[in-house]
Amino acid sequence: MDWNRLIAERAAKIEASGIRKIFDLAATLKDPVNLSIGQPDFDVPEPVKASAIAAIREGFNRYTPSAGIPELREKILSRCAEQYGARPEDAVVTSGVSGGLTLALQALIDPGDEVLVPDPYFVSYKHLTALCEGKPVYYNTYPEFTVDPEAVERLVSPRTKVLLVMSPANPTGACLPEAVKQALADLARRHGLILLSDEIYDLFTYGPRGKSFLAYYPEGTLALNGLSKTASMTGWRLGWAAGPKALIENLTKLQQVTFVCSPSFAQKAALAAFQSDLSEAVPVYRAKRDRMLAGLREAGYEAVEPGGAFYLFPKVPPKFGSGQAFVEEAARRELLLVPGHVFSERDTHFRISYAAPDEKLARGLEILRKMAR
Ligand SMILES: Cc1ncc(COP(=O)(O)O)c(C=O)c1O
Repeated sequence: MDWNRLIAERAAKIEASGIRKIFDLAATLKDPVNLSIGQPDFDVPEPVKASAIAAIREGFNRYTPSAGIPELREKILSRCAEQYGARPEDAVVTSGVSGGLTLALQALIDPGDEVLVPDPYFVSYKHLTALCEGKPVYYNTYPEFTVDPEAVERLVSPRTKVLLVMSPANPTGACLPEAVKQALADLARRHGLILLSDEIYDLFTYGPRGKSFLAYYPEGTLALNGLSKTASMTGWRLGWAAGPKALIENLTKLQQVTFVCSPSFAQKAALAAFQSDLSEAVPVYRAKRDRMLAGLREAGYEAVEPGGAFYLFPKVPPKFGSGQAFVEEAARRELLLVPGHVFSERDTHFRISYAAPDEKLARGLEILRKMAR
């Protein structure tokens, strides 16, 4: 088969090269210290598992309505109202936040439309924008991983439709101060933009828990959230998008002809997850963050203190030259990390996930210490 002719450009141009090299190297290792994974190290809570199993046993295995089961949508809306004092007009249950991002960008972006994307970004933002033939326009957050709303506003053009924001962020763990959220909401309102707010890590916040952008700009915010991280349900594909009715209707239409619906049992399990206290891991992860940050700084790494999520994004020591070179050397020493270029237009940093057992973190730190010498 002539795959070069057959495979569409949109698939062909998604590159996995840098990270593939590391995975290939990792596959040859017996017991690597894997700090490259973006998911919690605890399992799905027991009552949530029990609810999924019961749903399957009771025959809740068919298609659900495209927008999700009504009791879950209602719960999502009432939780938003409780948490942020703002009840969104509507919500659709999606196949994880990735599903929400896919539907939202498909619903909003025509070829040539511009999406303001933070740099560093979550990997999919760039690729999903490209799938819609949109143009990502990056707003810089280096070196402190802060957002300057005036600098963002200077990037707005007549083609800008979406301002993508995330707090806490992946890969930096950065949280946006409430005043910055307000300023970004104001600028989105001034220019008639949709604020696409990825709030997947909102539970993992180590200072005061921030508000959703829904509280600042309800008429133009589409908030994305889900249970992949908070209930460790990454494989179950359960997320949601909440915001203006006109937008949710269009996401739902697109869901009908693509994902069809989020998995039925996962929707039932989500109801159980909402009844469980999922915040137990937060102080545990805060302590891991503190230990890793202190250890890295002691070893001579430059690292910004993250306010949330479970990642650190330190600077690569100059002698290594790039994130890719640093991460390849770490892999040779049996430590798996992710190079900065996976999340950025530059390759000056590396991502560590500290959602791992303490003994693994200690071994990882030891390797990093030796590398810095
Ligand atoms: C910022 C961010 N958004 C979205 C996702 C995707 O989450 P989901 O598993 O819900 O699709 C991730 C997963 O790593 C993420 O870090």
